[in-house]
Amino acid sequence: MKMMHKDEKIWLTLSFGMIMIFMLVTGYQTFALEMGPPSNMETIDPQKVDQTPPFDNPGIKQIGENEYEVVMTLQIFSFTPANIEVPAGSTVHFIMTSKDVTHGFQVAGTNLNAMVMPGHIQRITQKFDKAGEYLVLCNEYCGAGHQLMGTTITVK
Ligand code: CUA
Repeated sequence: MKMMHKDEKIWLTLSFGMIMIFMLVTGYQTFALEMGPPSNMETIDPQKVDQTPPFDNPGIKQIGENEYEVVMTLQIFSFTPANIEVPAGSTVHFIMTSKDVTHGFQVAGTNLNAMVMPGHIQRITQKFDKAGEYLVLCNEYCGAGHQLMGTTITVK
């Protein structure tokens, strides 16, 4: 019985520590955001993402011979559009924003790794040479479903 008590104490301490860490991270993000977002970033009203072009029509669009534009919204806990497909050798321009909290956009096997914040438009470009299925993950803690927030980019 005494051992049980000790375990409980450990778990309590651990979960309290986790809460403190999340609070610190959130606090830091808020603080950093308020101190001034990068000036080269375009802003958007996060309440009106659905009505604001180009985000009123998220999706993938071919804009050149080997060039695609992906207009994407991130929201708890999904990417819209999901399961993107592009031919090998494509250059893809991602234009992204968040509809709620800060999310991450990380594509395994590439250097793509961006923070997508509500109120800001994030633009990044990546060339996909190698065929395969690339895992897209949210790497910013965004709530209870954070671990489930993922999709794929298929390069054919
Ligand atoms: Cu979205 Cu974590």
